[in-house]
Amino acid sequence: MWKYFRSLLLVTGLCFLSINSTWGQYALSSNFIDKNLTEAVEQIGFLAPNIPTDKFPRTYEDGKSISSNSAWWTSGFYPGTLLYLCEYSGNDDLLNKAKEKLKILEQEKLNTSTHDLGFMLYCSFGNALRLTHDSSAYKNVLLTGANSLITRFSPITKTIRSWEGWTYPVIIDNMMNLEFLTQASKMTGDNKYREIASTHANTTMLNHYRKDMSCYHVVDYNPTTGGIVAKKTAQGAYDESAWARGQAWGLYGYTMMYRETKDKRYLKFAEKIADFILNHPNLPEDFVPYWDFNAPDLPTDSPYATMYKNNRDASAAAINASALLELSTFVKPSKAKRYLQSAEKMLISLSSSPYKATIGSNGGFILMQSVGSIPHKSEIDVPLTYADYYYVEALMRYKKMLKK
Ligand code: GLY
Repeated sequence: MWKYFRSLLLVTGLCFLSINSTWGQYALSSNFIDKNLTEAVEQIGFLAPNIPTDKFPRTYEDGKSISSNSAWWTSGFYPGTLLYLCEYSGNDDLLNKAKEKLKILEQEKLNTSTHDLGFMLYCSFGNALRLTHDSSAYKNVLLTGANSLITRFSPITKTIRSWEGWTYPVIIDNMMNLEFLTQASKMTGDNKYREIASTHANTTMLNHYRKDMSCYHVVDYNPTTGGIVAKKTAQGAYDESAWARGQAWGLYGYTMMYRETKDKRYLKFAEKIADFILNHPNLPEDFVPYWDFNAPDLPTDSPYATMYKNNRDASAAAINASALLELSTFVKPSKAKRYLQSAEKMLISLSSSPYKATIGSNGGFILMQSVGSIPHKSEIDVPLTYADYYYVEALMRYKKMLKK
């Protein structure tokens, strides 16, 4: 009898534990997420009056708002953030503000001089289509833009060209433009966009990554032979260093490519990138990386060794958080737990001092302490529109995960 009672207790206990562990899976409460999203809605209201009608917010430095025209690579993030926050709050004023910016941004659908069309058009028009389902307003813009983007693809280098200049440069950031192409295939039923995306991702896996799973910022190709001319950095500390935002773009890019293709090679790759980031001895305790993983170890004769050694990049943390949340849904439970807990830690850090601005300050940007480019002495320790976009995206992703 006792034996029977003991097994019953054991079974009941196990059931409770497993139910309890499902209940306890998420460390952040919906109150925490809602509070931060509500504050983001309030804060973005302070941004709009600082931005001329035909311009897009970029950063806020020395008490001044800095904006860009629609051709700058970050132009899609503000309308994208407004759309996420409209999705959260149901506030139509945010949708209307986004629509005003979309009208100005639309001309970039014909821009064939940049690889950044995914950032510019998919984060903005892509979210508008997802949210409103208004195909007649947004589908043609997206498809025209996707057709502009693929003019930059070369079957010889098997990549999409990033910049002009150099020889045929491809930067790791370009992984972020591929979702735009997979969506274009879904919209048209034409596989050519998805094939270009996969080809670019495959070439980047081969040529951008080092044995330790850190990546180069720039790989410069020979456009005639497809060979590699050089592997360099433009925004990192030195050619062989691990520029923090570059690692984040790669993590996000391969996680997204797995979602879009279900090709397990991308999933394994994303896991290895995540492990490089999370196991790095220079990842600070609050999980907001230095602008370059190698920055704290720079030789004393490096131009950045004294001044910029300890600068953090909140934008890289926001991108990592959003990517890790998604990655946690694709992997086995032990890894899922690590990725989820790491993303939670990033969100907790970003949602508090010294990263989150008090409402009404910071020119209306949500986060502080990001780094644009230290080698170019540009946007150092400032808010950046894309840090806000990926932070809000991560909060929205978390909110959806809590609902499941
Ligand atoms: N895509 C440019 C940057 O990450 O700074």
